Amino acid sequence: MRKYVIAGNWKMNNTPAQTRALIEEMKPLVADAKCDVVICAPYVDLAAAVEAAEGSNIAIGAENLHWAEKGAFTGEISAEMLKAVGVKYVIIGHSERRQYFGETDLTVNARLKAALAAGLIPIVCVGETLEERELGITVETVARQTKIALKDIDAAAAKGVIIAYEPVWAIGTGKVATDDQANEVNGAIRGVLADIYDKATADEMVIQYGGSMNAGNAAGLLAKEHIDGGLIGGASLKAQDFAVIVKAASK
Ligand code: PGA
Repeated sequence: MRKYVIAGNWKMNNTPAQTRALIEEMKPLVADAKCDVVICAPYVDLAAAVEAAEGSNIAIGAENLHWAEKGAFTGEISAEMLKAVGVKYVIIGHSERRQYFGETDLTVNARLKAALAAGLIPIVCVGETLEERELGITVETVARQTKIALKDIDAAAAKGVIIAYEPVWAIGTGKVATDDQANEVNGAIRGVLADIYDKATADEMVIQYGGSMNAGNAAGLLAKEHIDGGLIGGASLKAQDFAVIVKAASK
C-alpha cells in the first residue's frame, strides 16, 4: 500500500512572519493525518517554517534547488544548504520553472540527482500544456519528461522519488482535470515507471496529482487508483482548505 503524500506549494507567497502564523494555524488541523503532510515554501521562509513545524507532523520542503554542490552560481541554493536548515522535501521541475525560468528535462534530471544524493525527498513535476493535450500527445509528453528526469537513477533510489502529474492547463486556472483524466495519466506514468524499472518498483512509487486540487474536488481525485496524493498550490495558502484535503487523503 502506498502512503498518500499531500504537499502544499506556496509558490512566491508569504513572509517569514506569515509563514509562522500559517503553519501554527495548520498544525492542529492536520495533527491526526494518516498521510504524509508537507509544506513547500520560498527559500527565505524555510527556517521559519522548520521552526514553526518542529514537533508536528508537517515536514518542510523547498520549491527548487541547484544541482551543483557549491560555487559561482549567483542566486542559487544547494541541496546541502536546504538540508542544513532542516528541509526534507524539494519540488523539482515545476511547470512554472519550465515555463518562465528555462528549466529543461535535463536540468530536472541534474537537480533530481543532487536531491537524492543529499537525502532530500524529491517531488518531480511532469505535465502537458493545453496545446500538447489537444494534439493528443499527453502521454508521450509525460513519458518523455519522466524518462529523462529519471535517467541514470536506479530502482532503489527511484522508490524514494515522488512524481507529481500536473497538467499545465489546470494549474492556477480553476480548471481541474476530471478524476478519470487525472487517473488515466497517472496510470500511464506508472506504466512508464514499470518500463524503466519493474512493476514492483512502479507500484511502490507515489504519483500525486496537482492542478487546482481543492477542498471540494480532492476526495474524488484521491479515491482513484493511481492518485496517491496531491501537490496543492492555491488551496495550501488557506489552513482550513488544506486541512480538508489532508483529511480526504487520510482514509
Ligand atoms: P494550483 O497549483 O493548486 O494553484 O493549481 C498547483 C501547483 O502548481 O503545484
